[in-house]
Parts: sequence; C-alpha cells; structure tokens
Amino acid sequence: MKIVLLGAPGAGKGTQATKIAEQYGIVHISTGDIFRKNLKEGTPVGLKAKAYIDKGQLVPDEVTCEIVAERLKEKDCEKGFMLDGFPRNINQAEMLEKLCKIDAVVNIDVDLDKLMARLTGRRVCASCGESYHVSTFEGKKCPKCGGDVIQRADDTEETVGKRLRVYTEQTAPLIDFYKKRGVLYNVDGMKAIDEVFDEVKGVLDGLKK
Ligand code: AP5
Repeated sequence: MKIVLLGAPGAGKGTQATKIAEQYGIVHISTGDIFRKNLKEGTPVGLKAKAYIDKGQLVPDEVTCEIVAERLKEKDCEKGFMLDGFPRNINQAEMLEKLCKIDAVVNIDVDLDKLMARLTGRRVCASCGESYHVSTFEGKKCPKCGGDVIQRADDTEETVGKRLRVYTEQTAPLIDFYKKRGVLYNVDGMKAIDEVFDEVKGVLDGLKK
C-alpha cells in the first residue's frame, strides 16, 4: 500500500499516521520529522531547513525531493509506505509520480480557522515525537517514553499564520491534482481523533479488497 496523507498544518496527519503505522504496519515517512531530526543532529540539511521552517516557508524542492527519493529506495519501502507532509506542492507531486504510483491520497479535511488553536496548543515529546494538546495534557514528561514535552518552534501564532497561508497557496491545489487522478479520499478531520481514524480505516480497508 502506497499512500499519501494530505492536509493543512495541524489537520492531524501525524496523529493519524501513528495510528495507521500501528494498525497496518506501514512505514511512516514524515518530511517534517526528517528535517527536525537533521536539525537536532546539526547536519547541513538540518541547518538549511531551519531557515525555512522558522519562517513557516517550504524547504526548497531540490532539498526535499532528494531526501524523499533516497528514502523511498530503502528496503523497508519495498512493500509500501505512507508519506506525511509530502508532496506539498504540484512540483513535488509531479516528481513523486515519476518515482511510483500512489494507491490513495487521504485528505484530512478541516476548517482552517480552527487550526490556530490546535497548533499553538500542541506539545510534542522531544524524544519519541508523540503529540499532545494543552487542553487535555499539561504534563512536562511524555507518558509514553519519559522524554521532555516541549512546544515546536514553528507553533507560534505568527509562524502558524504563515504556514496556513503557504498551505492555501501551494498545498491545497493538490486536492484537485489527485482528484483528477481518481485517488483522492476525503475524511472529516473535525471529528474526534478515533472517529477520524475509523474513516481512515474505511478507506484503507477498501483498498485491500
Ligand atoms: P510538518 O512537520 O510536516 O508540519 P505540518 O504539515 O505543518 O503539519 P503538522 O505536523 O504541524 O500537523 P499535523 O497535520 O501532523 O497535525 P498533528 O497530528 O500534529 O512540516 C514542518 C515544516 O517542515 C514545514 O512548515 C516546512 O517548512 C517543512 N517541510 C515539511 N515537509 C516539507 C515538504 N514536503 N516540502 C517543503 N518543506 C517541508 O495534530 C496537531 C494538533 O492537533 C495536536 O496537538 C493533536 O493532538 C491535535 N489533533 C489532531 N487530530 C485532532 C482531532 N481530530 N481533533 C482534535 N485535535 C486533534
């Protein structure tokens, strides 16, 4: 199964990806996580990406596409994978088409005006990446692994505003792009997390038949 998770910043791509990976055992590839890992390790890619991430802009396609192309060559992707946060513009989608055929694009559909609160209230574990929200979790240590729970540097109000604008201008056109190719499946991302996952499972189980 080769799938893409599409959705605005804060739509719940990472949240659903964790559940999908657990349930279906699919490799989860998040370009945002790859950049953050590189940043933590101080690699040249991480340092280059930081300048863009901090401004809420997309990292240049030549950097991102190269990373994804290399990652998809790895053995664990042979049977399938789930891309989270890639592609993010038409150019990246066209590059992906040259590499492989995608079975389904799951678009997590949300009201953009609800995302500011979701993102500025998000907290993540610096060790395992698990995501929390201040409305339901106030701890400083991750219940899963004991790591520090922190706020992502790009989850400030100003940067979230920019990320949402970039989504509208560059990423949202992918909905039509994939609709035309007959692989787009919408799920209602405004429902509770488990209800969204039920819809996602409906899509993915349908693909296996
Ligand atoms: P990336 O890390 O991909 O961030 P994003 O797309 O902005 O998405 P997020 O991780 O912020 O949100 P999400 O949809 O995963 O939501 P989550 O599940 O955490 O990218 C970061 C940056 O890297 C980009 O800005 C760019 O600079 C760069 N980058 C990455 N990929 C790139 C690419 N392809 N090209 C160029 N640059 C790239 O949920 C959010 C919050 O909501 C959490 O607190 C969660 O608990 C909560 N929540 C989730 N679902 C629900 C629900 N159903 N109801 C209520 N709350 C919910």
